[in-house]
Amino acid sequence: MNTPQHFLHTAEAFLNVQDTLAAGFYAESAFALHGKHDGNNTDDAVFTSINAFAERLPKPLAHYTQLLKQAKLSALETRLNAHAPFSHFLVGAALIADDESLHIGCNVECSSYGLTICAERTALVSAVAHGKKRFLAVAVAADTDELTPPCGACRQLLYDFAPDALVVLVNPRGAEKRFTMKELLPEAFTAAFL
Ligand code: THU
Repeated sequence: MNTPQHFLHTAEAFLNVQDTLAAGFYAESAFALHGKHDGNNTDDAVFTSINAFAERLPKPLAHYTQLLKQAKLSALETRLNAHAPFSHFLVGAALIADDESLHIGCNVECSSYGLTICAERTALVSAVAHGKKRFLAVAVAADTDELTPPCGACRQLLYDFAPDALVVLVNPRGAEKRFTMKELLPEAFTAAFL
């Protein structure tokens, strides 16, 4: 499902409800993915529709590119602070809140193994402690060639605060893959059921 067209449709849905930040991240994702698949083919129909859409955003696509770049770099950098003496599997995460602030986390393992907390949840609880309650993008960094996705527990907690988020997986060698939060947790349980 992570095609330029899918991301552009998602961006359109967010712009229709005046969520320009979410629209920006998804339009940027359409642009980034299209560039990757088609080389630098600048005069095709998909590129034209992404550009036409970008004109309706309050800020240029480069603004969202920059925010995502910061999040990816922060996730990679924070990963190096992970406390993982048992698994040696280091993970970093960075969330972008609705005021564009960045909130980082890494996994912290415990001698009582079950008390370990993942990078995504560390980032989320820190962000909430800083007064943030809604997130539009999250970058997750691990050193695997097949990019590491958030575990099931993290998907559920992220969904509560970031159901609209763009999820970007990265590794230190520059690979990246993008998903919508809804793709990662379809038919999600939410507070609406309570
Ligand atoms: N881990 C994360 O931090 N995030 C994930 O989404 C997957 C797993 C951590 C938890 C544990 O410290 C280590 O990776 C191995 O499971």
